[in-house]
Amino acid sequence: MKVGSLQLVVAVLALATALTVAYDPAILQDFCVAVKDRTSPDSVFVNGIACKNPSLATIDDFTHSGLNVPRDTNNKIGANLTVVDTTVIPGINTLGINLVRIDLAANGGLNPPHEHPRASEILIVVEGTLYAGFVATNPEHRLFAKVLGPGDVIVFPVGLIHFQYNIGKTPGLAFAALGSQNPGIMSIGNAMFGAQPPIMGEMLAKAFQLDKKVVAGLQSKTWINPEGDN
Ligand SMILES: *[C@@H]1O[C@H](CO)[C@@H](O)[C@H](O)[C@H]1NC(C)=O
Repeated sequence: MKVGSLQLVVAVLALATALTVAYDPAILQDFCVAVKDRTSPDSVFVNGIACKNPSLATIDDFTHSGLNVPRDTNNKIGANLTVVDTTVIPGINTLGINLVRIDLAANGGLNPPHEHPRASEILIVVEGTLYAGFVATNPEHRLFAKVLGPGDVIVFPVGLIHFQYNIGKTPGLAFAALGSQNPGIMSIGNAMFGAQPPIMGEMLAKAFQLDKKVVAGLQSKTWINPEGDN
């Protein structure tokens, strides 16, 4: 390879690395209130999302109520997550933040192992006794976990698998803030055993050192997402 083309390859790789830093871009305006109607003459596009004409923005675009209301945790995992994103608070668009109310049933309500591809998370426990933690990457898979009570705060680094499990005898409540307006949620069990169309069972059996029948059983289960309606 000639020196010139090697330098070009290095320059292209450096540029690609710079462009793929996976955080929300810094915003160049105070706000960009999301509007559903992308064809409206009042809308402009910023990062692919139509924004309301700023002169038409009101305080209602930046507020939301009802996060004080407990959610129904009467489901298989005993959890209900209320996500505050652009669909409920349009003014959050382009600001790189997001909020979640987490309700966990008494005696075992669980926010199952999951990860957020685009955000770190900071969570504060308000009620309950939560066994919460995350696992670091290969090769050690070090576990960082602890039992938390009201007022305790934990941080989950971006992309790492984490969980909260209410081991207390009373309902659990936590609020979490995430560093993206669209963090994404990848529930591990759901992704592996509830994928549609299903992942090849033989492959999963080998990957998880399981009997094929066990895999078939897991794939036949219903894998619910804990995020409820807003
Ligand atoms: C969460 O709670 C709301 C209302 O309390 C309910 O409509 C919704 O179905 C619940 N979601 C889950 C996943 O149970």
